[in-house]
Amino acid sequence: MARLRLGVMISGRGSNLQALIDACQGLAFPAEIACVVSNVRGAQGIERARAAGIPGVVVPHKGYPDRQSFEADLTRVHFAHGVDLVCNAGFMRILTPSFFDTWADRVINIHPSLLPAFPGLRTHERAIAAGCRFSGCTVHFVRPEVDAGPIIVQAAVPVRPDDTPEALAGRVLAEEHRIYPLAIRWLAEGRVQLDGTRAIVAEAEVPAGALINPAG
Ligand code: GRF
Repeated sequence: MARLRLGVMISGRGSNLQALIDACQGLAFPAEIACVVSNVRGAQGIERARAAGIPGVVVPHKGYPDRQSFEADLTRVHFAHGVDLVCNAGFMRILTPSFFDTWADRVINIHPSLLPAFPGLRTHERAIAAGCRFSGCTVHFVRPEVDAGPIIVQAAVPVRPDDTPEALAGRVLAEEHRIYPLAIRWLAEGRVQLDGTRAIVAEAEVPAGALINPAG
């Protein structure tokens, strides 16, 4: 069966991208990375892509008069590489509704909180300040609202009484690297159905030992 072709969008370090690169190297993994797009020149993720032999394209948002023309170029790059699914992985630009005219239900994102709690930035600091006992991460379909959209999978981690944002971020990041490839596997296997505001995951295998909920 043809593998699902991913267009991964990044702005920085690219550790989630690396987790996807590693997953896609598995022969049985049902997806492959067609291209990596960064809106930031010199992003570490672009180096990771090139090191893996994947086309890495820089589309600097600052060079455009408006968001729509920037996004039209993102779409052109994805089309040129035959992308089926756009995967945001630390991509720090808000997408406007016109991007979704082309990519309706074909854009996913990873966010470092248990959405709908703590959309936006500084999630770990805010989870600690709120006295949360658990935090975690979410892979979700992207909607024009920031960090909103049907949840595909979440993983939870404990928040410790003496936690720092950095320590919590590290614990959450390890789970991000686990659930992003998992969500893509389920999508590629056709297990994910949208039902209004929810994504239903059918008969998915959940790895043992993880606080992962496929939300289905
Ligand atoms: C991750 O925490 C991701 O959840 C958030 O931005 C961060 C990106 O990290 N959207 P990396 O670039 O994948 O290392």
